Amino acid sequence: MTPDDEIVGESPRLRRLCLGDVDEVASFVADPEQMRFYPRPKSRNDAAAWLAWNLALYEQHGFGTWYLESVPDGAFVGYCGLRPLLLDGQQEVELAWHVKKTHWNQGLATEAALTSMRLGFDRFGLSRLVAIIPPCNQASQRVAEKLGSRNRGPGKLPAPYADDPIDLWGQTRDEWLGRQPARARR
Ligand SMILES: CC(C)(COP(=O)(O)OP(=O)(O)OC[C@H]1O[C@@H](n2cnc3c(N)ncnc32)[C@H](O)[C@@H]1OP(=O)(O)O)[C@@H](O)C(=O)NCCC(=O)NCCS
Repeated sequence: MTPDDEIVGESPRLRRLCLGDVDEVASFVADPEQMRFYPRPKSRNDAAAWLAWNLALYEQHGFGTWYLESVPDGAFVGYCGLRPLLLDGQQEVELAWHVKKTHWNQGLATEAALTSMRLGFDRFGLSRLVAIIPPCNQASQRVAEKLGSRNRGPGKLPAPYADDPIDLWGQTRDEWLGRQPARARR
């Protein structure tokens, strides 16, 4: 089961984004505190373009960034998911997370990322996932550690962000499988 047919995950639940989410997403990405680890806060037009990009990713790959719904009220608490990314000339798939500040430190990013990672490896057959984390973003590093990812060292984003300091965290499908209980691997 994937977010393309229905909602997945227990808490938070993941579903596909839609164009009707623009108000929630736009106010989320306009908040400077929320966007502290991104190049800049985003406009409503940026948010609309980002939604359209994700709709195209669903069509092309089956995955993209998914909307996170809190349990039990279904409220928007952020987004998380998988998206293709060119890094150092190599095609990768990024595992990304971003949670609303009113809900930080409740385990939501970790749970959503675990659901996304399982879909990436199990359902979409990806061989590895990377996470892009600024060296100063300790909360995000902690999420990556809780997922079982490792810091693989500094990386370089495509222009215009090539000078932004980032570390590449991640794990391979084999590393992930190696941590699954034996019964689940059969
Ligand atoms: C990073 C982010 C997604 C984490 O979301 P979250 O739902 O709060 O994450 P979780 O609750 O699953 O885990 C957070 C962990 O970081 C730890 N943490 C939080 N702030 C921290 C800090 N300043 N230093 C060290 N650890 C910190 C928490 O204690 C928790 O670890 P624990 O479970 O061992 O106690 C959220 O803070 C966020 O959206 N930040 C702004 C945007 C962002 O950074 N996006 C990612 C870009 S790489």
